[in-house]
Amino acid sequence: MSEIIGKKIIKLDEVDSTNNYATKNIEKYNWSEGTIVLARQQLKGRGQINSSWESEPNKNLLFSIVLYPQVLPAHYQFLISKVIALGVAGVAKKYTDNVFIKWPNDVYIGHKKVAGILIENSIMGMNIGWSVCGIGLNVNQRKFTGGAPNPVSLIHFSEKEIQLDDTLNMLCEEIDGWYRILLAGEIDKIDAAYADRLYRYNEKALYSDNNGTFTGTIAGVNEIGQLLIRKDTGLMATYNFKQVEYL
Ligand code: BTN
Repeated sequence: MSEIIGKKIIKLDEVDSTNNYATKNIEKYNWSEGTIVLARQQLKGRGQINSSWESEPNKNLLFSIVLYPQVLPAHYQFLISKVIALGVAGVAKKYTDNVFIKWPNDVYIGHKKVAGILIENSIMGMNIGWSVCGIGLNVNQRKFTGGAPNPVSLIHFSEKEIQLDDTLNMLCEEIDGWYRILLAGEIDKIDAAYADRLYRYNEKALYSDNNGTFTGTIAGVNEIGQLLIRKDTGLMATYNFKQVEYL
């Protein structure tokens, strides 16, 4: 049973973006921790760094979770990304194998993206004030036309149409479990599970950065969420989001 996440769910038929709705209204409505804003359709679903998020109406899960992880120093905000990605990956795992987290927080099945996560935080002094964790999980959509490079849905691994409410309940439970581990301060557990699920972890592969194409091995993620890749030259390179491309 979920103790925090999804105790209250606000269901909207249509909204520009659940993240916009939540960040705009969080201070006005004082929602309790774990409140979910869910939409059947988003008119302007947002992805990472000004991209958009495609979803056919009523086919997928589109929602934002409101958290107040005020014990967390702002410096450690990447832990929220880890917690959410682990929860979503845990649910995808119930449908199929080969589930990975592609840094920073995409959830992959094989080499295809099944879920995207967009986290927006407010900072209160040195700590996090609130966190709006937007999740787009492809569930029943079979075809994608919006140009996302490599989308996939859970339905591709299921014999019949998936009940969105069942998957949402599973997500609440999984994310709740990981979030309580975070609140208990068991950071090592989170770090180990994230590394364990990390796409291309410890595998030699091809990348490109502003110095060109190179072969390297993902060695992990540091505490502020930067990706570490050991280049074949021996150099350990550190990347922020969008500074390295997986080839
Ligand atoms: C990504 O680019 O991978 C992040 C996608 C995040 C999409 C979700 S859908 C629900 C929430 N509302 C938004 O506008 N975006 C997030």
